Amino acid sequence: MMNELTAAAQSARSRAYAPYSKYQVGAAVRAASGKIYTGSNVENASYGLTICAERVALVAAVAAGERRFEALAIAAGDESPGMPCGACRQFMAEWFGPEVPILVVSSRGEQKQMTFGELLPEPFGPAALEEGKR
Ligand code: THU
Repeated sequence: MMNELTAAAQSARSRAYAPYSKYQVGAAVRAASGKIYTGSNVENASYGLTICAERVALVAAVAAGERRFEALAIAAGDESPGMPCGACRQFMAEWFGPEVPILVVSSRGEQKQMTFGELLPEPFGPAALEEGKR
């Protein structure tokens, strides 16, 4: 199950548009529907407009109507796997519960697996807004 997701992330990585950093990233998220959505990083000549692979995959899934997710795989890094940036972790917090598995794999096939709770403990998410209204 994670193998299929990892393969989808690696395939998405090959479609990265990263002419400036040359750092290619692919991501694949499995929705509760069973469908897999992929994304790659998309850079821009105005550097700051770059969008990370993880957010591209999540936005594609959410725009397709998905709201619940089961797992995320990220393909990044050459030797050790590249970890998702802080902005993407916050973006994940909108939908991922602490148990959602995150798998990160490098070009060499080195893997790290963790839960979303390990990646972003004490997240700020939708629940905080509900509680903070009082
Ligand atoms: N990048 C991602 O796609 N995901 C991350 O979590 C880290 C950074 C991209 C953004 C940019 O295109 C390149 O990697 C270098 O930062």
